[in-house]
Amino acid sequence: MATIQWFPGHMAKAIRQLEENLHLVDIVFELVDARIPSASRNPEIERLIKDKPHLMILTKSDLADPEQTQNWIKAFKAKGLPAIAVDSKANITTKTVTKIAQSLLAQKLSDEAQKGLKERPIRAITVGIPNVGKSTLLNRLVNKRVAQVGDTPGVTKGQQWLRSSSKLSLLDTPGILWPKFDDEQTGQELALTGAIKEQRFASDDVGLYALHFFRTYYPDTLVDRYKLSEADQELSDVDLLLKLTKQFGMKDDYDRASDRLIQDIRKGKLGRYTLNRMGAVEDD
Ligand code: G4P
Repeated sequence: MATIQWFPGHMAKAIRQLEENLHLVDIVFELVDARIPSASRNPEIERLIKDKPHLMILTKSDLADPEQTQNWIKAFKAKGLPAIAVDSKANITTKTVTKIAQSLLAQKLSDEAQKGLKERPIRAITVGIPNVGKSTLLNRLVNKRVAQVGDTPGVTKGQQWLRSSSKLSLLDTPGILWPKFDDEQTGQELALTGAIKEQRFASDDVGLYALHFFRTYYPDTLVDRYKLSEADQELSDVDLLLKLTKQFGMKDDYDRASDRLIQDIRKGKLGRYTLNRMGAVEDD
């Protein structure tokens, strides 16, 4: 994992841009990957957003373990962060997102109405690490492009408000934050889900991590997918990887076999999974 790098220059610029855009919006939609709600969160975000209303959106919930997703939603709520899960590739209801945003901003909207201000759409920005699903969600939510280039104070030329419904507008430039991975496991979680690219990590490390994880939490899917015998199930992680390498017809190229395993897992061929585990949270 030592090869994974940060790009401080890019990051500083992205943070500056996000800080500028935050002034323009009423609410932040913070996207995290439902399979890694912790690893895909940038730890700086709370500091950046400050007390701006904030909705957690767990993306790719179609790929995550549903029970774990529910636990995460409850855990975020327990921390005072409202949260929902979406599958942006299927039906994401604009109405639901709009309603939640309205309820989170109820006080501000009623104050504005009291002052006699005209009703206006809520302005939101999506924020998250690369590949978390910002563009996909925006495309789902938006049904009309509202050209408003440069004529709104503070809006950089080229930025636009996208109209989701008559009650919700989204800034077309999502806020991009970098994941933080100074520990090996977080790096492996990001790599396995595709949040960071291949050339930045050692495939066999991630392959071994994946085997160990699935053996611990979802052993049956591993056994079913790769037709593992009882004897295979007794092997060490390293020996099992070597066994799979042969089984895939890749001789002793365990890096290639790891890539195959990683691809299978990313595509959901081993079923739905959540790498960041969250214990059951009591209902309030
Ligand atoms: P970004 O703007 O935050 O960088 O992410 P983007 O929307 O480009 O999404 C990154 C990848 O995640 C895309 O896949 C996208 O289709 C996928 N994705 C986004 N939201 C969801 C979701 O809710 N469920 C699932 N299953 N996938 C989602 P890709 O491999 O880059 O492209 P493609 O497979 O769509 O061609």
